[in-house]
Amino acid sequence: MDSLKNLLEKNRNWAEKMKDNEPEFFEKLAGLQNPEYLWIGCSDSRITPATSIGMLPGEMFVHRNIANLVIHTDMNCLSVMQFAVDVLKVKHIIVCGHYGCGGVKAALDDTRLGLIDNWLRHIQDLAHKYQAELDQLENYEERLDKLCEINVIEQVVSVGETTIVQDAWLRGQDLRVHGWIYYITDGIYRDLKVTVKSIESLDDLRLKTINQRQKIGVGK
Ligand code: CO
Repeated sequence: MDSLKNLLEKNRNWAEKMKDNEPEFFEKLAGLQNPEYLWIGCSDSRITPATSIGMLPGEMFVHRNIANLVIHTDMNCLSVMQFAVDVLKVKHIIVCGHYGCGGVKAALDDTRLGLIDNWLRHIQDLAHKYQAELDQLENYEERLDKLCEINVIEQVVSVGETTIVQDAWLRGQDLRVHGWIYYITDGIYRDLKVTVKSIESLDDLRLKTINQRQKIGVGK
């Protein structure tokens, strides 16, 4: 279908339903964007961040990329974070990964896919950093799941280390960074319990990743 007519029809049906529930919904939405949450997640099509946690349009600011990476030279991600923190004044940044992530798997397997290999190189660096912990796991699936968890936790640290979040904490802004992981086969998010809310708590988490790498993460 050249015009993707079916998608446009579905969109009109959705908009009608929203208006049936609340006739002024879109008019109100147009006047103000006031989300409390910034979501940084994987681009994977099987995850629908706002829908799966029952959020309406306007409630969550979203950035997604392959394997939910926060790289300090990625102007796209940093710009989203800066706008969300400084202008929208979100209170929570949720870094969300998922078990069985194709990006993490490609990095673990050293699969050659093209340009993306350079992006996934960041995860290969993590696999090397946590080599000893990963080697303790005999099962491949367990190693993959552990690396998916490690990746989320390291990205939480990465978010906390940005000048954006550091400056927000220094000026006393209430801002928490959380690490979640999603299990595609049951549709449930799990809190990895690595929330940071200050420079001190970030230091604690960084120490935890250095000293107790094998103990971090909750498993399935
Ligand atoms: Co993924």
